[in-house]
Amino acid sequence: MSTQQDLGPDRPGGVFRTKTVEQSIRDTEEPEHALKKSLSAWDLTVFGVGVIIGTGIFVLTGKVAKETAGPATALAFVAAGVVCALAALCYAEFASTVPVAGSAYTFSYASIGELPAWIIGWDLVLEFALGTAVVAVGWSGYVRSLMDNAGWHLPAALEGPDVPGGTFDLLAFLLVLLLTLILVIGVKLSARITAVVVAIKVAVVLIVIIAGAFFINSDNYSPFIPPAVAQEGGSGLDAPMVQLMFGYEPTNFGVMGIFTAASVVFFAFIGFDVVATAAEETKRPQRDMPRGILGSLLICTVLYVAVSIVVTGMEHYTKLSTSAPLADAFKSAGHPWYAGVISFGAAVGLTTVCMILLLGQTRVFFAMSRDGLLPRFFSVTHPKFRTPYRPTILLGVVIAIVAGFTSINELATLVNIGTLFAFVVVALGVIVLRRSRPDLHRAFRTPWVPFLPIVSIAASVWLMLNLPAETWLRFFIWMVIGFVVYFLYGRSHSRLGKLGREAPF
Ligand code: ALA
Repeated sequence: MSTQQDLGPDRPGGVFRTKTVEQSIRDTEEPEHALKKSLSAWDLTVFGVGVIIGTGIFVLTGKVAKETAGPATALAFVAAGVVCALAALCYAEFASTVPVAGSAYTFSYASIGELPAWIIGWDLVLEFALGTAVVAVGWSGYVRSLMDNAGWHLPAALEGPDVPGGTFDLLAFLLVLLLTLILVIGVKLSARITAVVVAIKVAVVLIVIIAGAFFINSDNYSPFIPPAVAQEGGSGLDAPMVQLMFGYEPTNFGVMGIFTAASVVFFAFIGFDVVATAAEETKRPQRDMPRGILGSLLICTVLYVAVSIVVTGMEHYTKLSTSAPLADAFKSAGHPWYAGVISFGAAVGLTTVCMILLLGQTRVFFAMSRDGLLPRFFSVTHPKFRTPYRPTILLGVVIAIVAGFTSINELATLVNIGTLFAFVVVALGVIVLRRSRPDLHRAFRTPWVPFLPIVSIAASVWLMLNLPAETWLRFFIWMVIGFVVYFLYGRSHSRLGKLGREAPF
């Protein structure tokens, strides 16, 4: 292959220079910067389910059913699941073609160019870091509720900013630090712990579905899609973007309410894309990656739909709790024992979600540093554990502080918009890479290209438009900061750029 091709179609200093797939794979073979290949399809599926089932189903289901969609929340899960499945089919092709750490970041570097790759990497930092913080705060809430049952109480000031009188969430802070330590010691250890915890979490979800089915009152399903109600105060920045753009009145409930709900419960699906970040640590990525991604997504979609049908059948949607809806539905059915078990399982389960999001976060940072877009200091792996311990420790500490001081609500929608944006870029990348590198071996091929990726892009954008305008604004500000960092540091330190400058032309 000629040097020209190695550097991509753009001039070497250009922001659209691409890194070839071969080059991405070669980088992973440098011993000092290589990760250990130890994960199987089973590990990946466990990873996927471990990170996907979390705050979304355990916390958001009740809120969305009560305020936005009623029993039709099950349909919102289906809608969000379809958006994710479309994206997953694109992720699976990329992950099986470019089995390198860094997920959508790596994929876009190989297909669209350096600046778009930087943008997506920066975006993934937002998704995973804030996602970790959101879940840590949710975990802390469940643990405090269990502690309260046992008669132990933290001082109010240490219960976190979501609680009146609270300022610092001590439990969320400590959780993130502990998980950081586990990740530094090694991914295999984390995968073992994850497997046990995921089993507990899935068992609790199955208890909700199976035991809860006996307490369903079919009257609660009427009306299944409650009639549309105009949203109050829906004219400021808290209104969905789609309203500001097209000037139509947003509603809760009704058919449109299902889509508003879908843009929120979308959070419950975040995580399947994290599976792709572990491609480099997978033994047979071409075969195992698509299985891991699609398998975990399918399992979770089925469970979510079942849980939301059961919970809205157990209690009328207007009466559902918004903090611990799954446990509280059993309490109001007169079964506090089940409620205790569910709270315990939720607290345990959220631990793995937090850990895997943190893992994904450090891997993206690692990949960006290995490419020189962030300081190379961060991509030296630990001599004994072979883990990227430097970004793990740095980000772990920062996220622990964010989790300690920040409210859940402000962060969750920002995580959603960042993730949906990544979906758009990945789908675009599949189309571009099919054209620019039709010769590459693709163990998994996205069906109906470019039709399916285009539908995936449209579906993701639609959910993004259902998010509040202020979320768009915050996302925009984060991205502007990213541009500044790229043009001040990444562009001149990029390994690909340096390679280009040294290349004889
Ligand atoms: N999908 C994950 C959750 O619901 C992030 O917590």
